Amino acid sequence: MPIFRDTYAENMQRDSTEAQRLDEQFDLLTENIGYLLHPSVRDKMHPHARVADIATGTAAFLRNLAHDWPDTILHGYDISTSLYPPARTLPRNVTLHLLDARKDVLVNLYGQYDIVHVRLIAAGLTASEWGRAIRNLSRLLKPGGAMQWEECDFANVRHLPGRPYSTTGAASTMGLMYMTAMKPRFDYGWNQLVTEMRSAGLADVHTEAVSAGRVYDTRTRLTANGMKAMFAWARLHSIRGTQGALPMQHVEDLEHRAYADIQSGCYVTYDIHIAWGFRPE
Ligand SMILES: C[S@@+](CC[C@H](N)C(=O)[O-])C[C@H]1O[C@@H](n2cnc3c(N)ncnc32)[C@H](O)[C@@H]1O
Repeated sequence: MPIFRDTYAENMQRDSTEAQRLDEQFDLLTENIGYLLHPSVRDKMHPHARVADIATGTAAFLRNLAHDWPDTILHGYDISTSLYPPARTLPRNVTLHLLDARKDVLVNLYGQYDIVHVRLIAAGLTASEWGRAIRNLSRLLKPGGAMQWEECDFANVRHLPGRPYSTTGAASTMGLMYMTAMKPRFDYGWNQLVTEMRSAGLADVHTEAVSAGRVYDTRTRLTANGMKAMFAWARLHSIRGTQGALPMQHVEDLEHRAYADIQSGCYVTYDIHIAWGFRPE
Protein backbone atom coordinates (compact mmCIF):
# COMPACT_ATOMS: atom_id res chain seq x y z
CA MET A 1 0.00 0.00 0.00
CA PRO A 2 1.42 3.45 -0.86
CA ILE A 3 1.72 5.81 2.13
CA PHE A 4 -0.01 8.64 0.22
CA ARG A 5 -2.69 8.54 -2.50
CA ASP A 6 -0.60 9.18 -5.59
CA THR A 7 -2.93 11.04 -7.99
CA TYR A 8 0.05 11.93 -10.21
CA ALA A 9 0.51 8.26 -11.16
CA GLU A 10 -3.06 8.15 -12.49
CA ASN A 11 -1.80 9.90 -15.64
CA MET A 12 1.99 9.80 -15.66
CA GLN A 13 4.52 6.99 -15.90
CA ARG A 14 7.26 6.47 -13.36
CA ASP A 15 10.12 4.54 -14.93
CA SER A 16 13.66 5.14 -16.17
CA THR A 17 12.42 6.44 -19.55
CA GLU A 18 10.28 9.02 -17.78
CA ALA A 19 13.18 9.92 -15.43
CA GLN A 20 15.38 10.64 -18.47
CA ARG A 21 12.60 12.65 -20.10
CA LEU A 22 12.12 14.71 -16.91
CA ASP A 23 15.86 15.44 -16.69
CA GLU A 24 15.92 16.65 -20.28
CA GLN A 25 12.72 18.68 -19.76
CA PHE A 26 14.22 20.26 -16.64
CA ASP A 27 17.29 21.45 -18.56
CA LEU A 28 15.28 22.72 -21.54
CA LEU A 29 12.83 24.66 -19.35
CA THR A 30 15.70 26.14 -17.32
CA GLU A 31 17.40 27.27 -20.52
CA ASN A 32 14.20 29.00 -21.60
CA ILE A 33 13.57 30.53 -18.15
CA GLY A 34 17.15 31.81 -18.12
CA TYR A 35 17.99 31.04 -14.49
CA LEU A 36 17.75 28.31 -11.87
CA LEU A 37 16.93 30.82 -9.12
CA HIS A 38 15.57 34.27 -9.81
CA PRO A 39 18.24 36.84 -8.80
CA SER A 40 16.18 38.09 -5.82
CA VAL A 41 15.80 34.51 -4.58
CA ARG A 42 19.45 33.69 -5.30
CA ASP A 43 20.36 36.52 -2.89
CA LYS A 44 19.15 34.20 -0.11
CA MET A 45 21.75 31.56 -1.01
CA HIS A 46 24.89 31.36 1.10
CA PRO A 47 27.55 28.65 1.47
CA HIS A 48 25.62 26.83 4.23
CA ALA A 49 22.07 27.55 3.05
CA ARG A 50 19.35 24.93 3.54
CA VAL A 51 17.17 24.35 0.47
CA ALA A 52 14.06 22.17 0.04
CA ASP A 53 12.84 21.10 -3.41
CA ILE A 54 9.27 19.78 -3.30
CA ALA A 55 7.91 17.40 -5.99
CA THR A 56 11.58 16.89 -6.71
CA GLY A 57 11.09 13.98 -9.16
CA THR A 58 14.62 13.05 -10.24
CA ALA A 59 16.14 15.78 -8.01
CA ALA A 60 17.33 17.63 -11.14
CA PHE A 61 17.01 21.04 -9.44
CA LEU A 62 19.09 19.99 -6.42
CA ARG A 63 21.71 18.22 -8.55
CA ASN A 64 22.12 21.45 -10.56
CA LEU A 65 22.33 23.56 -7.40
CA ALA A 66 24.83 21.22 -5.74
CA HIS A 67 27.25 21.82 -8.57
CA ASP A 68 27.80 25.48 -7.56
CA TRP A 69 27.01 25.13 -3.84
CA PRO A 70 28.81 22.03 -2.54
CA ASP A 71 28.47 22.91 1.18
CA THR A 72 24.76 23.73 1.26
CA ILE A 73 22.18 21.31 2.69
CA LEU A 74 19.82 20.22 -0.07
CA HIS A 75 16.70 18.19 0.73
CA GLY A 76 14.38 16.80 -1.95
CA TYR A 77 10.82 15.74 -1.16
CA ASP A 78 8.30 13.87 -3.29
CA ILE A 79 5.11 11.87 -2.83
CA SER A 80 6.93 8.87 -4.36
CA THR A 81 10.54 7.69 -4.38
CA SER A 82 10.20 5.94 -7.74
CA LEU A 83 11.95 8.61 -9.83
CA TYR A 84 14.79 9.10 -7.31
CA PRO A 85 18.27 8.35 -8.61
CA PRO A 86 20.23 5.84 -6.47
CA ALA A 87 21.54 7.64 -3.34
CA ARG A 88 25.15 6.72 -4.24
CA THR A 89 24.92 8.76 -7.46
CA LEU A 90 23.74 11.94 -5.71
CA PRO A 91 26.05 14.79 -4.66
CA ARG A 92 26.99 14.26 -1.00
CA ASN A 93 24.92 17.28 0.15
CA VAL A 94 21.68 16.04 -1.46
CA THR A 95 19.27 13.76 0.42
CA LEU A 96 15.79 12.70 -0.67
CA HIS A 97 12.71 12.08 1.48
CA LEU A 98 8.96 11.45 1.25
CA LEU A 99 6.36 14.21 1.67
CA ASP A 100 2.85 14.84 0.35
CA ALA A 101 2.47 18.58 -0.30
CA ARG A 102 -1.28 18.26 0.33
CA LYS A 103 -0.77 17.09 3.91
CA ASP A 104 0.27 19.22 6.91
CA VAL A 105 4.06 19.22 7.08
CA LEU A 106 5.66 17.83 10.21
CA VAL A 107 6.22 20.49 12.86
CA ASN A 108 9.92 19.64 13.03
CA LEU A 109 10.26 20.94 9.44
CA TYR A 110 8.77 24.36 10.27
CA GLY A 111 11.17 27.26 9.66
CA GLN A 112 14.00 25.00 8.45
CA TYR A 113 14.80 26.33 4.96
CA ASP A 114 16.30 29.46 3.39
CA ILE A 115 14.72 28.52 0.06
CA VAL A 116 11.74 26.33 -0.83
CA HIS A 117 11.51 25.50 -4.52
CA VAL A 118 8.78 23.73 -6.50
CA ARG A 119 8.59 23.02 -10.23
CA LEU A 120 5.70 21.30 -12.03
CA ILE A 121 3.53 19.68 -9.37
CA ALA A 122 0.32 20.59 -11.28
CA ALA A 123 -0.43 17.08 -12.58
CA GLY A 124 -0.58 15.90 -8.95
CA LEU A 125 -2.93 18.54 -7.50
CA THR A 126 -6.64 19.18 -7.99
CA ALA A 127 -8.07 22.72 -8.18
CA SER A 128 -9.02 22.87 -4.50
CA GLU A 129 -5.64 21.62 -3.22
CA TRP A 130 -3.42 24.54 -4.27
CA GLY A 131 -4.14 26.90 -1.36
CA ARG A 132 -3.42 24.27 1.23
CA ALA A 133 -0.27 23.03 -0.50
CA ILE A 134 1.18 26.55 -0.77
CA ARG A 135 0.30 27.30 2.89
CA ASN A 136 1.88 24.03 4.00
CA LEU A 137 5.09 24.57 2.09
CA SER A 138 5.48 28.20 3.17
CA ARG A 139 5.72 26.90 6.75
CA LEU A 140 9.05 25.30 5.82
CA LEU A 141 10.63 28.75 5.34
CA LYS A 142 12.90 30.47 7.85
CA PRO A 143 11.94 34.10 8.55
CA GLY A 144 13.31 36.00 5.54
CA GLY A 145 13.44 32.82 3.45
CA ALA A 146 12.26 32.67 -0.18
CA MET A 147 9.82 30.47 -2.06
CA GLN A 148 10.20 30.04 -5.84
CA TRP A 149 7.66 28.06 -7.84
CA GLU A 150 7.45 27.31 -11.58
CA GLU A 151 4.38 25.99 -13.38
CA CYS A 152 3.60 25.80 -17.10
CA ASP A 153 0.28 26.74 -18.68
CA PHE A 154 -0.12 23.31 -20.30
CA ALA A 155 -3.84 24.00 -20.87
CA ASN A 156 -2.81 26.37 -23.67
CA VAL A 157 -0.22 24.32 -25.50
CA ARG A 158 -0.03 25.13 -29.22
CA HIS A 159 1.85 23.36 -31.98
CA LEU A 160 2.95 25.86 -34.60
CA PRO A 161 4.61 25.60 -38.03
CA GLY A 162 8.25 26.69 -37.73
CA ARG A 163 8.87 26.62 -41.48
CA PRO A 164 6.75 27.43 -44.55
CA TYR A 165 6.05 23.76 -45.31
CA SER A 166 5.80 22.45 -41.73
CA THR A 167 2.92 20.11 -40.95
CA THR A 168 1.26 20.27 -37.52
CA GLY A 169 -1.92 18.12 -37.76
CA ALA A 170 -0.96 15.02 -35.77
CA ALA A 171 1.05 16.94 -33.15
CA SER A 172 -1.87 19.34 -32.63
CA THR A 173 -4.38 16.47 -32.41
CA MET A 174 -2.33 14.76 -29.71
CA GLY A 175 -1.83 18.08 -27.88
CA LEU A 176 -5.55 18.76 -27.92
CA MET A 177 -6.47 15.27 -26.67
CA TYR A 178 -4.00 15.52 -23.81
CA MET A 179 -5.06 19.06 -22.87
CA THR A 180 -8.73 18.14 -22.88
CA ALA A 181 -8.17 15.13 -20.64
CA MET A 182 -5.83 16.96 -18.26
CA LYS A 183 -7.80 20.23 -18.18
CA PRO A 184 -9.13 19.65 -14.65
CA ARG A 185 -5.47 19.69 -13.47
CA PHE A 186 -3.81 22.07 -15.92
CA ASP A 187 -6.41 24.84 -15.68
CA TYR A 188 -5.09 25.57 -12.18
CA GLY A 189 -1.81 26.27 -10.52
CA TRP A 190 0.21 28.84 -12.42
CA ASN A 191 -2.72 31.27 -12.13
CA GLN A 192 -3.11 30.78 -8.34
CA LEU A 193 0.50 31.04 -7.22
CA VAL A 194 0.56 34.79 -6.52
CA THR A 195 -2.78 34.95 -4.70
CA GLU A 196 -2.11 31.86 -2.61
CA MET A 197 1.45 32.90 -1.75
CA ARG A 198 0.11 36.24 -0.50
CA SER A 199 -2.67 34.60 1.51
CA ALA A 200 -0.07 32.23 3.00
CA GLY A 201 1.56 35.37 4.45
CA LEU A 202 4.44 35.75 1.99
CA ALA A 203 5.57 39.29 1.13
CA ASP A 204 7.11 40.86 -1.99
CA VAL A 205 5.39 38.27 -4.16
CA HIS A 206 6.17 38.65 -7.86
CA THR A 207 5.64 36.67 -11.01
CA GLU A 208 6.90 36.61 -14.57
CA ALA A 209 6.30 34.43 -17.62
CA VAL A 210 8.44 33.34 -20.54
CA SER A 211 7.49 31.41 -23.66
CA ALA A 212 8.67 27.81 -23.88
CA GLY A 213 10.74 27.54 -27.02
CA ARG A 214 11.80 31.20 -27.00
CA VAL A 215 15.38 29.86 -27.14
CA TYR A 216 15.33 28.74 -30.74
CA ASP A 217 17.83 25.87 -30.36
CA THR A 218 15.67 24.19 -27.70
CA ARG A 219 12.48 24.08 -29.81
CA THR A 220 12.78 20.69 -31.48
CA ARG A 221 13.99 18.93 -28.32
CA LEU A 222 11.29 20.56 -26.17
CA THR A 223 8.60 19.59 -28.68
CA ALA A 224 9.81 15.97 -28.92
CA ASN A 225 10.14 15.82 -25.12
CA GLY A 226 6.53 16.93 -24.60
CA MET A 227 5.39 14.52 -27.30
CA LYS A 228 7.03 11.64 -25.41
CA ALA A 229 5.03 12.54 -22.28
CA MET A 230 1.77 12.76 -24.21
CA PHE A 231 2.22 9.45 -26.00
CA ALA A 232 3.28 7.73 -22.76
CA TRP A 233 -0.01 9.00 -21.31
CA ALA A 234 -1.98 7.78 -24.38
CA ARG A 235 -0.34 4.32 -24.12
CA LEU A 236 -1.00 4.11 -20.37
CA HIS A 237 -4.72 4.69 -20.90
CA SER A 238 -4.88 2.48 -23.99
CA ILE A 239 -3.36 -0.43 -22.02
CA ARG A 240 -5.67 0.23 -19.05
CA GLY A 241 -8.69 0.36 -21.39
CA THR A 242 -9.78 3.74 -19.99
CA GLN A 243 -13.08 4.92 -21.48
CA GLY A 244 -12.39 7.11 -24.53
CA ALA A 245 -8.73 6.00 -24.84
CA LEU A 246 -7.36 5.43 -28.35
CA PRO A 247 -6.68 1.82 -29.45
CA MET A 248 -2.92 1.07 -29.46
CA GLN A 249 -2.68 0.84 -33.25
CA HIS A 250 -4.19 4.31 -33.52
CA VAL A 251 -1.76 5.66 -30.88
CA GLU A 252 1.20 4.26 -32.82
CA ASP A 253 -0.01 5.67 -36.12
CA LEU A 254 -0.60 9.12 -34.62
CA GLU A 255 2.82 9.02 -32.94
CA HIS A 256 4.54 8.24 -36.22
CA ARG A 257 2.83 11.22 -37.87
CA ALA A 258 3.45 13.56 -34.89
CA TYR A 259 7.21 12.92 -35.08
CA ALA A 260 7.07 13.56 -38.85
CA ASP A 261 5.42 16.92 -37.99
CA ILE A 262 8.33 17.71 -35.63
CA GLN A 263 10.85 16.77 -38.32
CA SER A 264 9.08 19.16 -40.68
CA GLY A 265 9.64 22.04 -38.22
CA CYS A 266 6.49 21.91 -36.06
CA TYR A 267 7.26 23.25 -32.56
CA VAL A 268 5.41 23.61 -29.28
CA THR A 269 4.78 26.76 -27.33
CA TYR A 270 3.17 27.56 -23.97
CA ASP A 271 3.91 29.96 -21.12
CA ILE A 272 6.22 29.07 -18.25
CA HIS A 273 5.23 31.02 -15.12
CA ILE A 274 7.65 31.72 -12.29
CA ALA A 275 6.41 33.13 -8.97
CA TRP A 276 8.44 33.98 -5.90
CA GLY A 277 7.89 35.56 -2.48
CA PHE A 278 9.48 35.90 0.96
CA ARG A 279 8.53 34.99 4.50
CA PRO A 280 8.61 38.25 6.49
CA GLU A 281 11.56 38.54 8.96
C1 LIG B 1 6.42 16.53 -13.60
S1 LIG B 1 7.28 15.89 -12.23
C2 LIG B 1 8.37 17.26 -11.88
C3 LIG B 1 9.63 16.84 -11.19
C4 LIG B 1 10.64 17.96 -10.99
N1 LIG B 1 10.13 18.99 -10.13
C5 LIG B 1 11.09 18.51 -12.33
O1 LIG B 1 10.81 19.70 -12.61
O2 LIG B 1 11.71 17.76 -13.09
C6 LIG B 1 6.08 16.02 -10.93
C7 LIG B 1 6.51 15.42 -9.61
O3 LIG B 1 5.56 15.84 -8.61
C8 LIG B 1 5.42 14.80 -7.68
N2 LIG B 1 4.18 15.01 -6.92
C9 LIG B 1 2.91 14.93 -7.41
N3 LIG B 1 2.03 15.19 -6.42
C10 LIG B 1 2.75 15.45 -5.30
C11 LIG B 1 2.40 15.78 -3.96
N4 LIG B 1 1.13 15.88 -3.58
N5 LIG B 1 3.40 15.98 -3.06
C12 LIG B 1 4.69 15.87 -3.44
N6 LIG B 1 5.09 15.55 -4.69
C13 LIG B 1 4.12 15.35 -5.62
C14 LIG B 1 5.41 13.58 -8.57
O4 LIG B 1 5.64 12.39 -7.84
C15 LIG B 1 6.51 13.91 -9.57
O5 LIG B 1 7.75 13.43 -9.14
